[in-house]
Amino acid sequence: MSEMQNIQWFPGHMTKTKRQIQASLKLVDAVAEIIDARIPVSSRNPDLDSIIQNKPRVVLMNKCDMANPSATQKWINYYSEKGIPAIPVDCKSGKGLNKFVPAVNDVLKEKIERLKEKGMKNPTIRVMIVGIPNVGKSTFINRIAGNNRAKAEDKPGVTRGNQWFTLKKGFEVLDTPGVLWPKFEDKTVGERLAFTGAVKDQVMDIELLAMRLLDFLKTEKNPLFVERFKLQNENIVQMESYELLELIGKKRGMLISGGEIDTERAAIMLLDEYRSAKLGKYTFELPGE
Ligand code: G4P
Repeated sequence: MSEMQNIQWFPGHMTKTKRQIQASLKLVDAVAEIIDARIPVSSRNPDLDSIIQNKPRVVLMNKCDMANPSATQKWINYYSEKGIPAIPVDCKSGKGLNKFVPAVNDVLKEKIERLKEKGMKNPTIRVMIVGIPNVGKSTFINRIAGNNRAKAEDKPGVTRGNQWFTLKKGFEVLDTPGVLWPKFEDKTVGERLAFTGAVKDQVMDIELLAMRLLDFLKTEKNPLFVERFKLQNENIVQMESYELLELIGKKRGMLISGGEIDTERAAIMLLDEYRSAKLGKYTFELPGE
């Protein structure tokens, strides 16, 4: 569960985490970085590039079931231009996961060729998974590992910390993912992590958070959102987000004594419905913005 809530990301901890990842990097051929397809910038660790340096990488755009498909495609193109394969996945259903091994093999094509030329018939490829808390690392590992994982854990002599499971012959994944910290000191990043549920919204002003979400939803005008709150005849783009929050509360009959609108309840409901994908699929960040 949300490590972001439990882990204290103080500088000493970040240094320790960074060292652990750097140590594991020596054991692997490639890194699979999991990001949240809805917030491909905010769900990345800004220091990852310098941590992994030239290690071949694939990007798994997870939770693509909740992201805007055309935005996901733009990100795939963006990464492709940088020579990094980005694969849209939905670890909850397993969609897209069959592209993982081929993408890693592809990114390591030249290395595999070199090893074969040197006489290694079937070189073993090793990969590690990294990502910020709540991005879906455990879900991904559980999905791809299945029973193989349990077997690896039972193996005598395998010490905790460096366990591998065999995904297929000649392809192993490090069992424990590298947990990275997000750039949470950035206000916008913090808000987007809160929209998507990666950080607890208790730490934020819930109405303010709902207003920031509405800033985005009102310009996207997704029919699911508009129809759900019966906003068809309202000029929502022109509205202040607080006004819109009040209107949504009113439409849902969320009143407190004196006929005032319970905007706090409306905010909680709005965030909840967004997170359970009832308001449509959104991507908050596009390449080049
Ligand atoms: P972590 O190891 O990186 O910290 O993340 P974890 O796998 O625990 O996943 C965090 C949450 O994200 C979980 O939800 C998980 O079910 C959800 N999740 C992971 N992958 C996907 C995906 O592709 N699509 C969607 N829609 N959700 C995904 P949770 O609310 O914490 O638990 P639960 O509701 O699944 O019980």
